Order: sequence, then structure tokens, then C-alpha cells
Amino acid sequence: MQINANSLSLQAVNFQKMKVFATKIALKNVIAQKKQEGSLLGFVPTMGALHKGHLSLIQNALKENDSVVVSIFVNPTQFNNTLDLEHYPRTLEADIDKLKTLSPSKIVVYAPNVNDIYEGAVSKEHFDFEGLEYQMEGKFRPGHFDGVGTVVQRLFEIVQPHNAYFGEKDFQQLAVIKKLVSIKKLSVKIIGCPIAREQNGLAMSSRNVRLTEEEQKHAAMIYRVLQTAKEKFGTEQATKIKEWVVHQFENNSILTLEYFEISNESTLEPMQKKQKNTKYRAFIAAYIRDVRLIDNIALN
Ligand code: PAF
Repeated sequence: MQINANSLSLQAVNFQKMKVFATKIALKNVIAQKKQEGSLLGFVPTMGALHKGHLSLIQNALKENDSVVVSIFVNPTQFNNTLDLEHYPRTLEADIDKLKTLSPSKIVVYAPNVNDIYEGAVSKEHFDFEGLEYQMEGKFRPGHFDGVGTVVQRLFEIVQPHNAYFGEKDFQQLAVIKKLVSIKKLSVKIIGCPIAREQNGLAMSSRNVRLTEEEQKHAAMIYRVLQTAKEKFGTEQATKIKEWVVHQFENNSILTLEYFEISNESTLEPMQKKQKNTKYRAFIAAYIRDVRLIDNIALN
């Protein structure tokens, strides 16, 4: 059966007891009912093309809540590259099959179209995330976090969850969303979950399906570099570690480094001088052809 968000009716479509909604009106009804019954509501926002990383977020949410809403929506306002948006995998039918392998009766899927979220005005709000938005991803994807903030705020308004789950692969996004919740005084608890990795160490990402098997093998270098950077962090200066990383990528014909940064975990500002009692993380973004991959590692 072919499914797309437009073909889902106003009412829930029942996939083996798992409810799938295309509109916020229908979704809100079922959420109101669950809340009236006193259910604790978890939320996992996604852009679909679900992989084991998403499934582990959803499993965490299922453990800690009575019901879990999973949204599947490729948000146009967070893409600053039209080709990236066009090529972003859209696999609703397969996503629903994967969700059915978890606890279908406890999961509610919200798979809206652009109009249900943006109501005719596809634009993003401008946020002040106190500088978090200008580092790393923000430098290379201007406006990206305004798009993320806009859609996550809308989704929170619609779903009104008690708990919301985000992966640490997008560590900067997680920091931005925690800031969003604090500046807008939203009553949702944000829970960060560890990065899920392939056996070769490659961080799981919806974009990985765009890589050939051979490219996936090469992409494992990203995590190897992060692990070595972590070892070096004990004894070497950040500038030396950066130089070493740049050199590793210069010697690789498949991967192109976009940035490598060692940053303060709270402010996300690049580390100048190592301070006591401060946590640092290494962040990386690299390309294989036009496929952009990001990853990060805690250094101390
Ligand atoms: O991490 C993602 O998949 C997206 O940025 C999110 C949080 C679902 C917003 O579109």
C-alpha cells in the first residue's frame, strides 16, 4: 500500500492498533483523551527515514511514558540547501513498518503535510539562542536553527508532551532546544540520548542510506578521528589536534572536512585555553559527495 501524508484522512488510520494522523486537529483529540486519562506523554520528533538511532530514542520514550507521539515531518525551513531538502529520504511506509515492531498500541504517529504545520505561511521565526546558534552548524547552515526552533516550538504546541527526546548526534540542536524551552518557559522536559552507531562506529543518520556500502566504510573514519582526538586531548593543545585532523582529511580522497572544533560543552564556543571543571566536546562535519555527515564526542 502506498502511503503519503496527503492520503491520510482526517481520522486516524489504524495500522495494527498504531494510530497514524495527518492533521493536528485529529491528533489533538486523541492527545486530549490520553491526558484526561492521566497518561504521561512522551514525544520523539523526527524527519522520518527512521533508523535504529530513532528507534532507540522511541524505546527510551516508551520506557518512561504511557504513550509516545512520533512526528514524521521533513521541515523545509531548516534546510538552507534546496538539493539537500529535495534529496532528503522520505519513506513513510517503511517508517510505519519499523514503528510497528516496537509497541504499536502505545505509539501515535503524526505525519502532517507542510500546510498542517505552517498553515500557508512557510516562514521561520528569528530566535536569540544566546549565541549557541552561531557556532559550527550555525556558521555553515545560516538560519538552520531558526527553522529548527520554529518547527519544534510548533510541534510542542500541538503535542504538548511531558517529555521530549532528542539524540546527542545533533548535540548543538539539543542545546538549542533546551535554550528554546528555557527562554519560552515551555513546560516540557528535554531528554538527550546517546548517539547510536553502526558496528564500524559511523553515527546512525537518515542520510547514511544515500551512501554506497564502500562510502559507509570510508565514513567510519569520522568516528576514528574523533576517538583519536579524544586520546590526544589529554596531552596536546587544541590547535595541534585540529591540524592533525585537517591532515587526516587532506589525505583522504572520499571525505571532505567542513569543520572540526573543540568547544565548551555548555556555551559551544571554541576552546581557547583548557579550564578546570569545564566539559569539552569535539565536533565534526564532513562530506562524501553531497552527503553531509556530522558527529561529536565528549572529551573529558
Ligand atoms: O533532528 C531532526 O530530525 C529535526 O531537526 C527535528 C528535531 C525533527 C526538527 O525538524
